[in-house]
Amino acid sequence: MTISVSDAVLGRYSCRAFQPDRPVPDNTLKEILDKARQSPSGGNVQPWRTWVVGSERLSNLQEAIRAEISAEKRGGQNEYRIYPEKLGEPYRSRRFKCGEDLYAAIDIPRDDRPARLRQLARNYECFGAPTLLLFALGREMQPGQWSDVGMYLQTIMLLAHEQGLATCPQEAWAQWNDVVRIHIPIPDDFIFFAGISIGYEDKAAPINNWRTDRAPMEELVTFLE
Ligand SMILES: Cc1cc2nc3c(=O)[nH]c(=O)nc-3n(C[C@H](O)[C@H](O)[C@H](O)COP(=O)(O)O)c2cc1C
Repeated sequence: MTISVSDAVLGRYSCRAFQPDRPVPDNTLKEILDKARQSPSGGNVQPWRTWVVGSERLSNLQEAIRAEISAEKRGGQNEYRIYPEKLGEPYRSRRFKCGEDLYAAIDIPRDDRPARLRQLARNYECFGAPTLLLFALGREMQPGQWSDVGMYLQTIMLLAHEQGLATCPQEAWAQWNDVVRIHIPIPDDFIFFAGISIGYEDKAAPINNWRTDRAPMEELVTFLE
């Protein structure tokens, strides 16, 4: 069954509980990544590079981060700042609400810091997904090319959704850039950007039954006379 673009856009969500024992077939992954090459980019420079990580290499990467992460150390070395030092309004409130709603969906109270940290650390277990895609772009690239890579990620996620797969885009990996580079051969002249965990969703997991909201269109779009 093929789904419409609208269905894919509205149906995709960030999945945070996957079926760990259900692998993504290689040919499905190849088909997605092959089609995703059609993503647009300014000047058609196609600034993205992708690494597909699974099996033992993924377990080793996950194990290496597990060995390093603690309540005091939530990241290693990152190469770029994910958010501005001071995230102003309305962005700060949106980000805060997203976090609060996520923890509420799995009954983690505000003051249960260890439980929040444990949930955060699930990022580095790929939330149980069997496969992780990692993305990098040339160090010389500018905001235009970063936006191209964002579109590329969305193209992959929509194509995955079409195939009945779920995804979670993850900047969290960038916080362990130093460890990632030990396990993944990202060339030095590339900045490691983010990952996408990909697999089959665990429909029964409460965290997957929560959906984020969006600001109303009037707040975001101006139709000029
Ligand atoms: C580039 C990018 C990086 C993200 N990084 C993370 C992450 O590290 N961990 C996580 O749980 N979610 C991450 N997200 C998911 C966002 O929280 C999510 O897209 C947003 O809250 C909207 O929800 P939705 O994707 O379910 O529609 C990321 C999303 C994007 C686009």
